[in-house]
Amino acid sequence: MAEFKRPDGRKVTEMRETSAKVGVIKNADGSAMFQTGKTIAIAAVYGPKKMHPQHSQNPAKGTLRCNYNMMSFSVTDRIRPGPSRRSTEISKITEWALEPALDLEKYPNMVVDVHISILQADAGTRCAGINAASLALAHAGIPMRDLVTSISIGKLDKTLVVDLDKKEEDFEEGEGPTDIPISMTGGKITHLQLDGKINGAQLKEGLKMAKDACDEIYEIQKKALKEATQ
Ligand code: CDP
Repeated sequence: MAEFKRPDGRKVTEMRETSAKVGVIKNADGSAMFQTGKTIAIAAVYGPKKMHPQHSQNPAKGTLRCNYNMMSFSVTDRIRPGPSRRSTEISKITEWALEPALDLEKYPNMVVDVHISILQADAGTRCAGINAASLALAHAGIPMRDLVTSISIGKLDKTLVVDLDKKEEDFEEGEGPTDIPISMTGGKITHLQLDGKINGAQLKEGLKMAKDACDEIYEIQKKALKEATQ
């Protein structure tokens, strides 16, 4: 069988060109930029600070509150500003992906706000947002067990690939596209979504590909943190 050709010529296990920078918003308590290909996310952390309104306070531990927002200019068809069903869902998923890595027991009744802005979108924005947020939380000095890394695994017709771009997300040949965004911390999965169809054996293989990509992202994140503290 002829080898599957990705639209941009990448190998199936190859991520897009990826970079990260910590400390991009000076007024925030912690901040970071994470870029993969043409997708750019910025995360800014404010807090821990007293939770308002008071009825939302948790006396047992601090609360992580994430806000994912796609800038109206981030895609070719301008997005209507303000919250949408999609952005509300991704904000919630981002909280779930990050929470297991955080240790917020020391901050009862307080909140850590994470604002994620997507400046440019070419698929994989929730993963880029989670990677940026994880870095920004570490930069803010929020106690963490480990960093959180996130990547999307795809199945284009029958072939598994790492880090889908928008062209690949729209792939309609054969069995069509399957998109599986995954987040990990300390080798454990904290978030997995599945849009499409995949069998058990391929999912297992996809998880292995995600683990390898997350290891690469982890190194990029550590380097960015080190550069910010030098
Ligand atoms: O960005 P991510 O892959 O996490 O989420 P998605 O909902 O699967 O969106 C995939 C891509 O579709 C986004 O990254 C954008 O490039 C594009 N998109 C868009 O053009 N307009 C929207 N309102 C939402 C998404």
